[in-house]
This record gives sequence, C-alpha cells and structure tokens, in this order.
Amino acid sequence: MSVGLASGVGPGSAHPVHVAGIPLLLTRTRDGVLRVFHNICRHRGLRLLSEPCEGLRELTCPYHAWRYSLSGKFVAAPYYSGEKGTKIPEAEAENLGLVAIEHHVFFDVIFVNLSGDATPFEEWIAPLAKLWQPFDPTRIQLLSTTEYRLEANWKLVCENFLDNYHVPFVHGQAGGPETAVDFDDVALAPDLFGFILPRGEADKPKPEWLPRQELAPEIQDAQFLFCLFPNTLLIMTAGWFQVISVQPAGAQCSAEFLGLYLMNAIPEANRPAANEFSAFMNHINAQDAKILMELQAGRLSPASERGFIAPYWDETVKRFQERVSRAYDEFGSESGSA
Ligand code: FES
Ligand SMILES: [Fe+2]
Repeated sequence: MSVGLASGVGPGSAHPVHVAGIPLLLTRTRDGVLRVFHNICRHRGLRLLSEPCEGLRELTCPYHAWRYSLSGKFVAAPYYSGEKGTKIPEAEAENLGLVAIEHHVFFDVIFVNLSGDATPFEEWIAPLAKLWQPFDPTRIQLLSTTEYRLEANWKLVCENFLDNYHVPFVHGQAGGPETAVDFDDVALAPDLFGFILPRGEADKPKPEWLPRQELAPEIQDAQFLFCLFPNTLLIMTAGWFQVISVQPAGAQCSAEFLGLYLMNAIPEANRPAANEFSAFMNHINAQDAKILMELQAGRLSPASERGFIAPYWDETVKRFQERVSRAYDEFGSESGSA
C-alpha cells in the first residue's frame, strides 16, 4: 500500500502519516535518503511527531527528550542515569533506533510493506512495468502536488477513479460519451487492474511545450488508468503522468495525495502553460470531489445496498469491489475505515 509521494518529503524533513490506523513517519536525511519508520519513541512509545517538520537535523521526543537522527539512529537520552552526560551503554543504544519499515518508491509513490511479508515489490509490480515498456520512469519530472480532503470513504474514491462511465458526464471538458466508449478492461494481476483508452489522447491537443515519451506505436495515444490495490491510482500517457495515493481518514473521509508529472524538465518560459495544465487537472479533481461527497451521502440510504452494475461499463469497479471483499475475508474488517 502507498503512504504518499517521495517528492513531498524534502531533505531534512519528517512527515507523520497514518496507514491502516498505524502512525508512521517518513523522513529524508539531509543527504537525501528517504526512510519510513513507525512513528513512536523507543522509550515509552509516545508518538514522536504529530506535524510535518522541515529544516531538521534530529528528531527529539517531546516527552523525555530522547533524540534520533533522521536515518533513525538513536542519538541520546539526556540524564539517562540521573546525571548530566550519562549515556546508555553502546550495546543497548544500538538497538534503540526507530523501528524501520521496508519501503519502495515507484513513480514517486512510496509503498510500504507493513506486515513485512509482502511479495517482493519488483515481483509485485512487474506486470505493470512490462505493459508500459519502454516507458522510462526516470524521466518523469514533478509538475505539482495537491492534497485533498474528501468527504467519502477511500473505497469510493478508488471506485470513482476506475469508473470510466462518469467521465463524459462529470468532466464534459474531457470529451463526449463517444470518446469514452472505446476502452478495454485490463486485469494484469489480482492487485493490478484498471482500463486502457487506446485512443484516449488521440484527439487531445498536444501543445509544443509538453514533452512526450516515445512509446510503442499502439500505445502512443493511449491513457492507462490503473489501481495498484488497495490505495494507489495511476494515470499514464505519453505526455503526462498522475499518481494518487488515497489515505483513509475515517469511515466517511479520505485524504488524497496527488502528484502530476511531465516527461521531462521544461524551460522556465513554458512554466505558465504547464501551470495552466496543472490547474485544469485540479479542476477535474474538484469535480470528482463533489461527486464523491454525493456518493457518500447516498450510502446513508438503506436502499444503496441495491446498486446495479452496468455490464458494459462497470467491470473494473466490480473487480475492485470483489478484491475488497477478498481482502475482508482474508484480514477481517479494518478498524475505523470500513
Ligand atoms: S517517551 Fe520518548 S523520551 Fe520518553
Ligand atoms: Fe472523475
């Protein structure tokens, strides 16, 4: 599962996040190394950090002032034996670092292996990476990031992303229904599924300023919309790329970290055009936010149990719902976000 965007964690900063109700801490050392830890002090288990902090050299626990480096190493416990300058014996101090969590960055998204027994990341993501070849992820350049608070359960946010049916009706500026009808559902693996609009970019303007990647001819004009189950959503095209990490924030509330990327750095002169593009994409997301609020409101009705799946359109939504259902069977109900 994803916890946020790597580009959002600058050198010398630490960002608290919650994943499945568990407090985590993202840090980046001053020399640029990203780390993920359980966000608790090793002394009495206090949550170490409650707000994002920049310009840090160390982390200091607010309770008894134990200190840790941004790479998680234990630094000091003042007055440990009652006197100034006393130290924890080295052998013990070595085991008092912050508890690290395995992570992996893919297209700027930070994925964590919370249980420690997940499939190796490269193996898990391989079908998607293969599908996009020769797309070069090292070329992507961050254009903008946005954080949204949505009045909807995280599952509705994912379902809405995978719902191609609404696009012409909610986002009319993206084209009429005839531009949406040509799509293919794709299930690459149990956790990697979505849909492809093979000609999704064909009729869109391709401004001079927008750098593009050369892809295989059959996908050069395509849009790929994928869910990396459970909470990561990606849109890939030859000209731009978007990632969304959806974070549950209660039964009827989610946070969304959204990153928009271009395929190369752009000259400063093209910045206004790029910012306009970014504003356009944010406008689309604002349209979705409104719909999500209404979707969530509709769930308060007992009749919402009797939803109807439109077979032509809703296959991918159904796939997501079935995957959620399997996760519930496997792990039981999630605390606070079901
Ligand atoms: S709980 Fe952190 S120093 Fe005591
Ligand atoms: Fe939408």
